Amino acid sequence: MSEFTIGETDFLLDGRAHQVISGAMHYFRVHPEQWADRIRKARLMGLNTIETYVAWNAHSPRRGEFSTEGGLDLARFLELVAAEGMHAIVRPGPYICAEWDNGGLPAWLLRDPEVRPRSSEPRYLEAVTEYLQQVYAIVAPLQIDRGGPVVLVQIENEYGAYGSDKDYLAHLVQVTRDAGITVPLTTIDQPTPEMLSDGSLPGLHLTASFGSRTAERFATLREHQPTGPLMCAEFWNGWFDSWGTHHHTNTVEQTAADLDAILSVGGSVNFYMFHGGTNFGLTSGANDKGMYQPIVTSYDYDAPLDEAGHPTAKYFAFRDVIAKYAPVPAEVPDAAADAPAFEVPLQRVAALFDVVAASGSPLGTTSAHGDLPTFDDLQHDSGLALFTTTLPDGAAGAGILGFEEVRDRAWVFLDGSPVGVLARDSHENAIALPRTGGQLSILVEDQGRVNYGQRIGEPKGLIGGARLDGAPVLDWSVTAIELDAVPGVAADASGAAPGTDAAGPVIARGEFTLDAETDGLFLDTAGWGKGLVWVNGFLLGRYWRRGPQRTLFVPGPVVHSGVNEIVVLELEVLAEARAAFLAGPELGHTEV
Ligand code: GLA
Repeated sequence: MSEFTIGETDFLLDGRAHQVISGAMHYFRVHPEQWADRIRKARLMGLNTIETYVAWNAHSPRRGEFSTEGGLDLARFLELVAAEGMHAIVRPGPYICAEWDNGGLPAWLLRDPEVRPRSSEPRYLEAVTEYLQQVYAIVAPLQIDRGGPVVLVQIENEYGAYGSDKDYLAHLVQVTRDAGITVPLTTIDQPTPEMLSDGSLPGLHLTASFGSRTAERFATLREHQPTGPLMCAEFWNGWFDSWGTHHHTNTVEQTAADLDAILSVGGSVNFYMFHGGTNFGLTSGANDKGMYQPIVTSYDYDAPLDEAGHPTAKYFAFRDVIAKYAPVPAEVPDAAADAPAFEVPLQRVAALFDVVAASGSPLGTTSAHGDLPTFDDLQHDSGLALFTTTLPDGAAGAGILGFEEVRDRAWVFLDGSPVGVLARDSHENAIALPRTGGQLSILVEDQGRVNYGQRIGEPKGLIGGARLDGAPVLDWSVTAIELDAVPGVAADASGAAPGTDAAGPVIARGEFTLDAETDGLFLDTAGWGKGLVWVNGFLLGRYWRRGPQRTLFVPGPVVHSGVNEIVVLELEVLAEARAAFLAGPELGHTEV
């Protein structure tokens, strides 16, 4: 058994000064069969600790459920950290930000209009308490004073950037202590005087998040906490990408110098991220500070270990800096080898609308609604929904169809012909129809719930009802699309003849043969428009020609030697009916 405490100037491990050199890696962003490999590579860079958030909405997609299967096996993840001789830091939120859908808060929680997120509102607290107790039942026995790896637990996340409800923070601390968490508790904030004071409570150890200007940030932190170890608990050694931006990178030399500035004053650090991984499935979040900016599928983060688990130039530069202050193993991980590069044809399987319209469709049942429901009214947390109605002929007007807000992208069809797209990221909420009558179909996509700021938890779909020339449009048939069923639809129709009609929304399928296991593949989406893609039933995530991301990472354990299946749901246009795999990642254009 060991003891981990906060001393006058340092963290103390069994009474001796200890510099935490930690790296973030979110178990829910990495295939579980690759956890051990990534953790080992963290140790080889010189890290002594792995930090992870816990994503509430991943564990609990429905109220009352708390899954710890497969990729959600937090105990196994922490045990692998321990097996590598490392410590662990756990940040259970409940809000985590992290460019993760809704900042980790479950959509079901915020469907209740009484619930006020990140506050001491009782219904919110009740759900949070239940969640934290489930997490701590896993974490408590794995604390360092019980022989496990966990040395620190964080309360909330950058709370000072959101609110100042001290009763809320006190409640989180109470639940944490009551659940048997005995290690020191921390908070993190952007180091401004206001955020540090709003986000903290006496008795919690304050840390800061930043990526540069170390001396100044540590000085601000010091003013708020005269004693104890200085820690940059999120050292932003890279950055995330949003659709439509450049791929963010920063210079190795500057980032290494910023790291040196932290370690040279005895500061502790947590690389954010050591290994970013991937926003598989529909897990990516979004920002909205006046403009909606959904996060891309890759969470490579320009981190020292890239998305595919390979060391980058930053890895070696950081290792050299760390070696000045702490022992670093002599062994280094292998450099990336080229992934198999090849192409396979895709066959059109079916038009999405035809599959949805078929009786007994596996893609979901259609229900009738007077007013236009939101995704949340339908208890449909993410993905796609189809809304159809009949517009009576002969209305006098220009045919302007409008909504309060489109969240987040709507493809509008009249009598089966495309009319246009309404995109939230361009503030589009009205479109001119060519006629005022006909069968109106609107396919709506959720592109990720906002994960930062006051817009977390907002509903998705067509908000505020539909209006045609100012008059409400009522009587809708609605299908919340079961995306999990798409690969099955594609397999059932695998006898489909090759087709060239690739106008979306369309389902297409292909097969590829591998003659050996692989670390991972890089699927090139450049010939496609916008959509989702599955390999062997595993939803890799969203792709979009808007970029910057061009390749999707296919983790090695998802494929096998022999025949593999790829299924594409293309929402716009499949310009090239083929799937290509490249030797390495293409995450897009950088600013410099
Ligand atoms: C903050 C949050 C993190 C993450 C980073 C940006 O520091 O705490 O969860 O969102 O910003 O990547």
